[in-house]
Amino acid sequence: MTTQKLSRRKFVAVAAGTAAAGSVLGLGGMKLAAASTPVKILVNGVAVNSKGARIEDGTTLVPVRFVSEALGAKVDWDGTTNTVSITGTDVAPAAPGEAPALPWTYVELDPKVTAKLGYEHYFSHGGCASAAYVAIVSQLKEKVGYPWTTLSDDMWRYGAGGAAGWGTLCGALNSAGMVLGLAAGTADGNAMINELYEWYSSSELPTKDHEEYCKYPNQITTVPRSPLCHISVSVWSNLAGVSAASEEKFDRCAKVSGDVAAKAVTMLNEYWAKGGKLDFIAAWKPKEEFAHCAGCHTLANAQPKTQQGKMNCVTCHDDHTK
Ligand code: HEC
Ligand code: HEC
Repeated sequence: MTTQKLSRRKFVAVAAGTAAAGSVLGLGGMKLAAASTPVKILVNGVAVNSKGARIEDGTTLVPVRFVSEALGAKVDWDGTTNTVSITGTDVAPAAPGEAPALPWTYVELDPKVTAKLGYEHYFSHGGCASAAYVAIVSQLKEKVGYPWTTLSDDMWRYGAGGAAGWGTLCGALNSAGMVLGLAAGTADGNAMINELYEWYSSSELPTKDHEEYCKYPNQITTVPRSPLCHISVSVWSNLAGVSAASEEKFDRCAKVSGDVAAKAVTMLNEYWAKGGKLDFIAAWKPKEEFAHCAGCHTLANAQPKTQQGKMNCVTCHDDHTK
């Protein structure tokens, strides 16, 4: 199967050349057929949903949504003005069985709006991983459409509490990392993950950006020193003197989820404002307190060559060199 790349300009021309009426497109000059004849629609040779397709007064009417979406465009219906809006994206639609090529089209998002959405979705959507993910992707579904519209809003529910409550990777970092990879491609997305995880590990969290709408303003902050849910949450809860299953801790993690989502879109905004360049972020380096460990224990020159990872060693190990 080949994937047909459809540029925005080309698609608009296609859309303008055919009259949109309600939810169906009129195709003039089609051969007359009996009203009961089923109409089949092939887009690039592949059958798409033809529900509602019919022949009326010699004109073949086909549903504009299914056809447009099969071509990678986004369709909006404005009931107040009876207007169908079809917007093309620069992402080539995938042929069946193929994934759309990365990166997917990204548009600038407001970090403040994103932070608040992250906070809210923590409660409405099942925890940290869904929160950061839905905060960003719901906006891209609306502003860009395909291929973001192919993603389920529920796919990150398992990530809450470091995956089903296991306390491994912070769910917000995990899902935001996925979005970075989709919106910038794997290599540049990974560079942004380095930046995001390091920022998280070394920042006072939660930030004070949620004071206006949160349930527990003015909470204490901690520097997680780790991307792990277990360390991040346990140290904060211990210092705050609250249970890890308390409303106060939920509020803290809702804020942190919003913070992570906001940091991710801030990077993506800058990245795409520079036409897809990473020059605004420094290459990841281990922090001073464990830089000397990595000198002997990284995968490349470990003694023995066993250690994998970029996390701060001394959150878990004693420094045997001191
Ligand atoms: C100068 C090189 C060097 C540095 C620096 C270094 N290590 Fe090691 N480390 C070793 C060697 C050699 C061993 C022993 C391997 C063995 O005996 O099998 C070791 C063993 C370990 C072990 C295995 C447990 C043990 O006691 O055998 C851990 C864990 C470890 N190091 C963690 C760290 C951490 C954390 C740091 C930084 C705070 C660090 N190392 C710094 C060389 C180094
Ligand atoms: C989240 C906690 C954590 C972090 C962070 C961490 N480690 Fe470990 N590491 C462990 C645990 C737990 C083990 C398994 C220990 C065992 O079973 O003996 C381990 C195993 C090791 C071993 C093998 C030890 C052995 O007994 O065979 C080495 C070497 C090691 N870590 C080095 C490092 C270095 C270097 C870093 C930093 C770059 C690091 N670790 C970061 C928790 C951690």
